[in-house]
Amino acid sequence: MNKILKVLLPAVMLILMLGAFTACACDEDDAPPVQQQPGQQGPQDNVETPPNVPGEAVRVGVSMPTMDLQRWNQDGANLNRLLSARGFDVDLQFAANDVPTQVAQIENMIGAGAEILVIAAIDGDSLTEVLAQAYERDITVIAYDRLIMNTPAVSYYATFDNFLVGVMQGEFVRDALDLPNQDGPFYIEFFTGDPGDNNINFFFPGAMSILQPFLDDGTLVSPSGQTAIAQVATIAWSSENAQTRMENLIALNNLTPGGNPLHAVMCSNDSTAQGVTQALRNAGWEADGFPIITGQDCDIISVRNMIAGYQAMSVFKDTRVLAENVVEMVAAIAEGREVPINNTTDYNNGVLYIPTYLSDPIVATLDNYRELLIDGGYYTEAELYG
Ligand code: GAL
Repeated sequence: MNKILKVLLPAVMLILMLGAFTACACDEDDAPPVQQQPGQQGPQDNVETPPNVPGEAVRVGVSMPTMDLQRWNQDGANLNRLLSARGFDVDLQFAANDVPTQVAQIENMIGAGAEILVIAAIDGDSLTEVLAQAYERDITVIAYDRLIMNTPAVSYYATFDNFLVGVMQGEFVRDALDLPNQDGPFYIEFFTGDPGDNNINFFFPGAMSILQPFLDDGTLVSPSGQTAIAQVATIAWSSENAQTRMENLIALNNLTPGGNPLHAVMCSNDSTAQGVTQALRNAGWEADGFPIITGQDCDIISVRNMIAGYQAMSVFKDTRVLAENVVEMVAAIAEGREVPINNTTDYNNGVLYIPTYLSDPIVATLDNYRELLIDGGYYTEAELYG
């Protein structure tokens, strides 16, 4: 509450002082009351306001993990555009997937007067110390798409239902191979993301909640036997790291078209799916007969691979929706209104249950990608087809 007063009280004082001044200079009915919200333009905004004068735009620090993966560029651009349009002063930084860089950038945002921080953590366990500074300064922190762990400083979390993302991936493999009605064995390998990204603790268990029973009864077999999350993690979610590991798995068990069978590779997102796909293509696998590859994010490269017959599915997480949800949270925080959330029970960050706004993921396949991505305005034809 003291934060809201800190933001609104000076504006109210300024308006009262201006009202008093105006009242002296003209009749009362010429000076309609102006209720200026932080960040909104008001009539007195044409007056040169020295720094730190009440009524300045609320400064929002936006910390994104990297520009190396397509989606985070979209997230950063969406947040910058939408927050700026609402009158906020945006400080957007990308941390090149380097944790010390992200920590330093957040420190700088705090030092530069950010009143709200929106953070997609590279490593959810790496921000406890720097966010203690935010906590001391009563800065509101929103965890963006990735939960930030082991700190009381996080006030809100906005993401998609990431366990459901994994369930969707597992169900797609189950149904594509008709596992409940087959004896098998079908052969599968697994890839998830960076071990520091708390989201893999939702994606991978989600997928395994569907597929583990088939591993247990022998309908599914992993030739490498690598089915534990630590064994199938991919540092930095990088396509190169996924490709290298898939090349090793191909060599380990001769997973080639003329060698031993491979029916599916469960990948937690598109960047890992792209690396796996490249390794399989290099080993001679053709689109016709290609193993079932799952993904997430509807990256342009992966959608093109879907159209070409290499990737079987992705999961659409509309980053525009996520950004819009977060902007509504930021506006509500700045204006002292109730912050929109729809989950208070599923996201414990090791210190407390974080009030969360979950958006819905959608399965994307050849059957619906045009409706989702082109008709929905997410990509233009030119962007998608090149
Ligand atoms: C996850 C995110 C996914 C995935 C990955 C790599 O945290 O939820 O969309 O793409 O990062 O950026």
